[in-house]
Amino acid sequence: MDRIVVTGNGPLSGQIPIAGAKNACLTLMPATLLSDEPLTLTNAPRLSDIRTMTTLLQSLGAEVSALNGGQVLAMSSHGLNNHTADYDIVRKMRASILVLGPMLAREGRAIVSLPGGCAIGARPVDLHLKAFEAMGADLDLRDGYVHAEAKGGLKGAVIDFPVVSVGATENALMAATLAKGTTVLKNAAREPEIVDLARCLRKMGAQIEGEGTSTITIEGVDRLHGATHPVVTDRIELGTYMLAPAIAGGEVELLGGRLDLVAAFAEKLEAAGVSVTETDKGLKVARKTDRVRAVDVVTEPFPGFPTDLQAQMMALLCFAEGTSVLEERIFENRFMHAPELMRMGARIEVHGGTATVKGVEKLKGAPVMATDLRASVSLILAGLAAQGETVVSRVYHLDRGYERVEEKLGNVGAKIQRVQGDG
Ligand code: EPZ
Repeated sequence: MDRIVVTGNGPLSGQIPIAGAKNACLTLMPATLLSDEPLTLTNAPRLSDIRTMTTLLQSLGAEVSALNGGQVLAMSSHGLNNHTADYDIVRKMRASILVLGPMLAREGRAIVSLPGGCAIGARPVDLHLKAFEAMGADLDLRDGYVHAEAKGGLKGAVIDFPVVSVGATENALMAATLAKGTTVLKNAAREPEIVDLARCLRKMGAQIEGEGTSTITIEGVDRLHGATHPVVTDRIELGTYMLAPAIAGGEVELLGGRLDLVAAFAEKLEAAGVSVTETDKGLKVARKTDRVRAVDVVTEPFPGFPTDLQAQMMALLCFAEGTSVLEERIFENRFMHAPELMRMGARIEVHGGTATVKGVEKLKGAPVMATDLRASVSLILAGLAAQGETVVSRVYHLDRGYERVEEKLGNVGAKIQRVQGDG
């Protein structure tokens, strides 16, 4: 398995281009199942998760062509001929569950493997299933698969989510576009990826109002037509690379960065002593002092501080002057980066969903292990300012969500390389 070797190498400077959002693309791609006309996505990120979703859609009979090096995904589900999303693919990527809603809405049936848990938590899909039942689907869970049927099609319903769920909101939103009548999603997630999905569905002829707020109303239509849609900028990749100059020093411009996508995160960076400035090309980030100040963080659904930036923020706070408290409120086990950072000399105490970080002046490079996508990149960020060499193993986690990380960081002066793994 490949490894990434990072050596603390002083301040960074230059520009980093931000790609299209993985988590938007992973819900936009299944939307092709809603129509027999072509759906083309531009500004798509080149990531292993996107390739996994491509394989899944192709296994259902959809055509997916990655053009222009993978930045354009030309899709058509005209030839849909299989309604079963196999465990072998689904177990690799939980977002596979997002084919359930579109397939059920268009075909009236779908068999999708339950995704199972993952490193950061049990991550059930009960809210997805309850939404489909509310819309009149019959669901039968057996041998690890959801067997869903909606004879005569789905019906509009009022769905009040007890917990804000990005995936359940996306699945129900897609299904509702073809349901008979009106669907109202209450306590809906407000993430930019959902706003992006709604905009794409509207281009396909869907009637949707309220995306980006907690209440989304959808008037079902008989059919959707094709469209072309650009994937929104990846706010998590953006936030991740904003932390590079904050940790290593210097100044970096994030091309395509939008402040509205990372407002709560940028506010925390400013409080820590990092400047975030809008430019005509994106966002410019620079650390204003030798050491950042400690700040407290609580992860919340958008527009709060994103859970997907918690691990990366912890890497910064390991170097801060003072003690920071990070509260992880979205997932039950999302501090697996803490023991790895502690191998580098970080002073962190984890109690349940709270991590207390006592900042230190220096971290020492060490061999560390990536445990999940965002934990892996937080170790790389810490390595940018650690003394000596940090070797991050199991970087297949990293490649799920970050395009060419060694190239993007190397181009702004980081000393970083990918070492081909053995076996
Ligand atoms: C999406 O996951 C993202 N993934 C995650 O990003 C992100 O961390 C998460 O939203 C929260 O923002 C994609 O978009 C592909 P949720 P999702 O449903 O939809 C509980 C990354 O690093 N829940 O909003 O699975 C759940 O256990 C990934 O890119 C239920 O209880 O997240 C969690 O505690 C990691 N029942 C909370 O809700 C359900 O049916 C939020 O989960 C669904 C969720």
